[in-house]
Amino acid sequence: MKKTLLTAVMAAAALAGAAQDSKMDEFVSSLMQKMTIEEKIGQLTLQVAGDITTGSVQSSPVTERIAAGRMGGVFNVKGAGKIRQLQDIAVKQTRLGIPLLVGMDVVHGYETIFPIPLAMSCSWDTLAIERSARIAAKEASADGINWTYSPMVDISMDARWGRVAEGSGEDPYLGSCIARAMVRGYQGDYSGKADIMACVKHFALYGAVEAGKDYNTVDMSRMRMYNRYFPPYRAAVDAGAGSFMTSFNLVDGIPATGNRWLLTDVLRKQWGFDGFVVTDYESLMEMTRHGVGDLASVSVQALKAGTDMEMCSEGFYKTLGQSLKDGRVSTDDIDRACRRVLEAKYKLGLFADPYKYCDENRHATDVYTAENRAEARELAAKTFVLLKNEGGLLPLKKQGKIALIGPLADNAANLCGTWCVAYTPERYSTLRQGLERAVGDKATVMYAQGCNLTRDAALQKAAEFGRTIPRGDDEAMKAEALRVAAGADVIVCAMGECSDMTGESSSRVDLELPDVQRELLAELLKLGKPVVLLNFSGRPTVMTWEQARVPAIMNVWFGGSEAADAICDVLFGDRVPSGKLTMTMPQAVGQIPLYYNHMSTGRPVPEGIKSYRKYQSNYLDVRNDPLYPFGYGLSYTTFKYSEPRLSADSMAVDGSVKVSVDVTNTGERDADEVVQLYIRDLVAKISRPVKELKGFSRVHIKAGETRTVEFTIVPDMLKYYDSELNYGLDAGEFTVMTGPDSRRVKGCKLTVY
Ligand code: NOJ
Repeated sequence: MKKTLLTAVMAAAALAGAAQDSKMDEFVSSLMQKMTIEEKIGQLTLQVAGDITTGSVQSSPVTERIAAGRMGGVFNVKGAGKIRQLQDIAVKQTRLGIPLLVGMDVVHGYETIFPIPLAMSCSWDTLAIERSARIAAKEASADGINWTYSPMVDISMDARWGRVAEGSGEDPYLGSCIARAMVRGYQGDYSGKADIMACVKHFALYGAVEAGKDYNTVDMSRMRMYNRYFPPYRAAVDAGAGSFMTSFNLVDGIPATGNRWLLTDVLRKQWGFDGFVVTDYESLMEMTRHGVGDLASVSVQALKAGTDMEMCSEGFYKTLGQSLKDGRVSTDDIDRACRRVLEAKYKLGLFADPYKYCDENRHATDVYTAENRAEARELAAKTFVLLKNEGGLLPLKKQGKIALIGPLADNAANLCGTWCVAYTPERYSTLRQGLERAVGDKATVMYAQGCNLTRDAALQKAAEFGRTIPRGDDEAMKAEALRVAAGADVIVCAMGECSDMTGESSSRVDLELPDVQRELLAELLKLGKPVVLLNFSGRPTVMTWEQARVPAIMNVWFGGSEAADAICDVLFGDRVPSGKLTMTMPQAVGQIPLYYNHMSTGRPVPEGIKSYRKYQSNYLDVRNDPLYPFGYGLSYTTFKYSEPRLSADSMAVDGSVKVSVDVTNTGERDADEVVQLYIRDLVAKISRPVKELKGFSRVHIKAGETRTVEFTIVPDMLKYYDSELNYGLDAGEFTVMTGPDSRRVKGCKLTVY
């Protein structure tokens, strides 16, 4: 009975969807009949706001182009008032009154800033991540934005690449779960005023730039693309993402923006994507520099490949009209792209109400509210990863004298992380302020900056990118910090990277704590007092030196506008740390790319081997193991895992089996634990990874309590793409593993027949 009802409801929904689609088709077709070719090409054109960002709306070249009906969208304008004026021009001054798409890089929050995406992924809390996207959409839409350039779902295993901060780490399964959550969070079903369109980026493979150097080249087998890099993009399509952004890099030797196989065969035909594709910033221009043709040729190539809208190159704008006359593109090519852009506007409801997102009253009620900030604070606390806690030094007591030292200790802008286009740092607290608030009159906070960010002033300036940290004489600052610390009971160091040491154009080759900071830390340790290192970073830091010497280390990433309070929540034990790494932290930069789901090789060296093995796959000078593996993170309590149990030792290729594991909280604090499931395919047509994450569950376990966590293994979890790109699974033996991280797993055998 229930089933019949469900089927009827689904059929009704499908019918309603089809009716909606045909209404949209009719509307867009009739609009396009009225459009000139220039107006159609205009819809394929996206410009950055430029002067409008700081100046007035009326006098800019962008405004003139909108008024001429030659622009489809604009981005990075802040304020519903300004955006309303722009929409007004598009709607009232142009012949057909087509409203604008208004985009922004709202990547981890708008004014309420959430932790950087890499940090958010370390919460493994997809519901909280979805809520963060929802809040970002609510705030951005209150200010007139209807389109965000997020989520960034590029898988990367190279910590040198600064843009790892923007993604969800190295794992395709977790990355896919987060991609879906974020698309859902931003878009809803487009019906509400707070539903904005997501733009999934950067399609594709941007995370695999050689040597982790930004904008560098990419080359890999298709098998690797499908198994490792494509899953999160595909998951975003399945979640209904409305738009995609192309990547700067080559895919099979062809720039992604002009790659027909990628944009049409894979994205549309194989995955069924029905939204529109926009280039990244000046990607058409970059195609000329990749050496595949002049601006006119690459514009033809990109349009025919499946790119619908260009960002800032003006290749479509300036050359497509002539290319049409020359017969290099057809009206159909232009119509196809134009239709997709107009459909996006239709889906967002902009034709029904061009001012849907221009309600100037919403800012006061929807932006940077107590509720949004509470959500950001709670999520931030879940992202911190406790890497070491010797003798239970953490949590600290709110008592005595606490020395707070380091260049990140008293700077709010640098707690926020890379993408903060709309942020208002003057309203956010520094860690010093948060700490003083947290301890009240129970303890004394003594502060000293202690050192510069880096010894080299030019490097610091480049890394700061405008979010300055005061500079002084390193020796004098160190002396002051040692004096302050000498009088303290405990030393808390706020050290690491500043916000823009990761993100776009922030690749690095030295991933250790910057020079003067490390030197200061060494001196502080010599005082013989308890030292806590709060490591700020947008990427895995190499902390071999610190692991050997510093009693307590917590990675706090860039936690956003509420980071200061969130750090104190965890530092003093009001919350228990539960974050787990989503990128492997290496012992040495030379190990990179280092990732848990690597291949076996023909000469594997088992994990945990202490010495070099001649003629085996390892290094002379450093062991293969990471310093901290994928999935790793400590708590203020301890957990004991049982062996995993299968509901049956075997399953049919189209069957399923359950695996369960008992997890006991053996400590004294109630806490969350992220229980992880990994699977290894022991014999397959192609070599398969030594383990792959296939499930996880974030569970709350009371002190002394045992929870049984169950996962269902279904065929899809065992499937892979072979070298012919066939997707399937092999009968045979698999190892099913559960544990608290990718290293400390216990396994059992599953036979698939
Ligand atoms: C370039 C970046 O690669 C992309 O992520 C961003 O969305 C655009 N610029 C627009 O700001």
